[in-house]
Amino acid sequence: HQENASVEEKLTQICANLKSEIPYYNWVGFYFKNGDKNELKLHSFAGEPTDHTIIPFGKGICGQVAVSNKNFVVPDVKAQDNYIACSIDVKAEIVVPLFKDGENIGQIDIDSHTPDPFTLEDEAFLEFVNEKVAEILPTNFSKV
Ligand code: SME
Repeated sequence: HQENASVEEKLTQICANLKSEIPYYNWVGFYFKNGDKNELKLHSFAGEPTDHTIIPFGKGICGQVAVSNKNFVVPDVKAQDNYIACSIDVKAEIVVPLFKDGENIGQIDIDSHTPDPFTLEDEAFLEFVNEKVAEILPTNFSKV
């Protein structure tokens, strides 16, 4: 699908820019709902490749945000029971849901090697990024 291919390129560029501009953003990725399955699928990212390209709803920080529709800020990943580790270097994580037409269709996920780096400013900024991304996503983006 031509339109989706160019959107994926833009998402990859956004991930790369965020990672390079913000020193404590060490891994940046977008997960989206995988069609009609109750799982998330990794679309684009910047940083080390991860094994966790599919995450069931409810599993890990990402899977929890898929069902809570709320930002999840994790100052210390070691303190989380329901957490999927991608790298031993990761100390903290933030996941902000992405809404399209009022529906939680995905999320931006950021890992940090710095302990407790995320503030309300990061939350507001990433909400803004997601709003802008939602505007460029085709209506059926996460459904096909
Ligand atoms: N840590 C996430 C899994 C995705 S990796 O951070 C890229 C989680 O617990 O859902």
